[in-house]
Amino acid sequence: MAMRGKIAVVLGTRPEIIKMSPVIRALEARHLDHFVLHTGQHYSYNMDRVFFESLRLRSPEHNLGVGSGSHAEETAKMLVGIEKILMQEKPEAILVEGDTNTVLAGALAASKLHIKVGHVEAGLRSFDMEMPEEVNRIVADHVSDLLFAPTKVSEKNLLSEGIDPQKIHVTGNTIVDAVRQNLDLAMKAELPPGLATERYVLATLHRQENVDDPARLRGLMEALARVHEAFGMPVLYPIHPRARKRLSEFGVRAGKGVVLAEPVDYLTFLRLQKEATLVLTDSGGVQEEACILGVPCVTLRENTERPETVEVGANLLAGTDPASILSAVKEMLNRGKKWENPFGDGMAAERIVDILERV
Ligand code: UD1
Ligand code: UDP
Repeated sequence: MAMRGKIAVVLGTRPEIIKMSPVIRALEARHLDHFVLHTGQHYSYNMDRVFFESLRLRSPEHNLGVGSGSHAEETAKMLVGIEKILMQEKPEAILVEGDTNTVLAGALAASKLHIKVGHVEAGLRSFDMEMPEEVNRIVADHVSDLLFAPTKVSEKNLLSEGIDPQKIHVTGNTIVDAVRQNLDLAMKAELPPGLATERYVLATLHRQENVDDPARLRGLMEALARVHEAFGMPVLYPIHPRARKRLSEFGVRAGKGVVLAEPVDYLTFLRLQKEATLVLTDSGGVQEEACILGVPCVTLRENTERPETVEVGANLLAGTDPASILSAVKEMLNRGKKWENPFGDGMAAERIVDILERV
């Protein structure tokens, strides 16, 4: 029996726009009745609008404009705003993607209205409850009716928490779809002048637990400078606004050889990743993309909810200590670059929409 009602796609941050883009495209291509609700969690041009432009997505039908705040402030404003739109639009199902406050609010608001919740990228676990994202993932998964697990690893996490196997579908990760749909175009993207260089390390850092702690942020910035010193390559760091704000609050400067830049659009970032010698990151999506693109990655965290990247040999967890980061970089530079992409065949969005049409 096909789904007859409307589908609401709820998103709010940079990675959600990127990872939902293949799903929105599939809904459009099949002429399924749907609308996009943007919470406005991200709102700066280079964290939001630029992705609608580079991914050629139409503007969302609704934007709540909630902006930044504490976890409670953001989530509370979103809950109120999302509930209103859902009561007005009466969708049969909503789709959320990932682990942000937008996902938590979307899943919670819909489940209380008895609207079916589909969670894209369900079942990821870092087993670290200090991460706000881990709380969001667990709550969202447990109120969802359809859990789109990207891999067998994520399916297993869900089963071990007692989630009904009939609700779980292993689909692959829509990030593979996004990479495949955009890579050719990305390789023609013009690089900003400061970032056009031959051999380089590409860095991103924005996790709350890394950048909101002055000692840790100082250590990480020192590590980036030491990577430059030891391996003779510039470290290009398109900096997330959260991290930019903390550097200035804590009076931490970028060391020699570390090139800070504004965040870049998706096509430019894909090209920068593809051509990087190595990626240093605490981002979830960047760990996956580096693995898909065949670029070695060192993750500046103690744990990861993307263990598949480590298992296939594409990624090493280095923590945040400069000495262990340096030795992980050395090891990854010496490792071969041949590994399997564990995140699927680039048809995840089609599979998700197939399932939506069936239920
Ligand atoms: C959020 C997600 C995180 C995700 C990240 C993707 C939560 C709990 N966190 O973190 O999981 O990895 O998005 O990038 O949902 N800011 C701007 N402009 C913007 C957005 C943010 O200047 O468009 C600045 C503001 O100072 C804000 C800070 O960044 O206070 C943090 O923004 P917020 O959305 O709360 O969390 P992120 O760190 O972006
Ligand atoms: N990204 C981008 N421009 C940048 C940095 C990252 O387009 O300057 C993309 C990147 O390709 C990936 C996504 O943003 O798809 C990752 O988002 P982020 O690191 O903010 O969040 P996370 O994945 O950790 O939730």
